[in-house]
Amino acid sequence: MSQAGTGTGAHEPSAAAPVFEGAARRELDAVLKKYPTAQAALLPALWIVQERQGWVSPGAMAEVAEVLGLTVAYVKGVVTFYTMYHQHPVGKHFAQVCTTSPCNLCGAEGVVAALLKATGCKRMGETSPDGLWTVVEAECLGACGFATPVLVDDDLIESVTAESVPALVARYR
Ligand code: FES
Repeated sequence: MSQAGTGTGAHEPSAAAPVFEGAARRELDAVLKKYPTAQAALLPALWIVQERQGWVSPGAMAEVAEVLGLTVAYVKGVVTFYTMYHQHPVGKHFAQVCTTSPCNLCGAEGVVAALLKATGCKRMGETSPDGLWTVVEAECLGACGFATPVLVDDDLIESVTAESVPALVARYR
């Protein structure tokens, strides 16, 4: 899957604040109890960060490294390996469009163009000026029989067409 771009997202202002305080620290402590080592809890710890900040900032990587007793380089290696972790601020809604060949043959390019137009994103990977949307291309989303699939946040929406995009976007306003 493609990684998010560098646009300014709705979550960015909180990115500098420590994450693991209060409820987030309690959530992390609960996660740590489920794993044999702190290192094994790295992926859920990064999810806690992303759920709260919208992305995993360099500062958050350092904080995760500190609380789990890992090196920043190790944490960064994991964040950069898994494309579901955002390395840049993204919009409130993160839309991934499958543009792999089978979906492309069924009109994925038109879906992408319609999504960019309906969301106000200037180009793929950039966040819309209102901070609501980031649209990226993705490799196969595992819904090849339902071209074109679009993953909006955690919602997989199948059989999206250029014509159905405006109604799809309206559902998330
Ligand atoms: S090729 Fe598009 S979902 Fe598989």
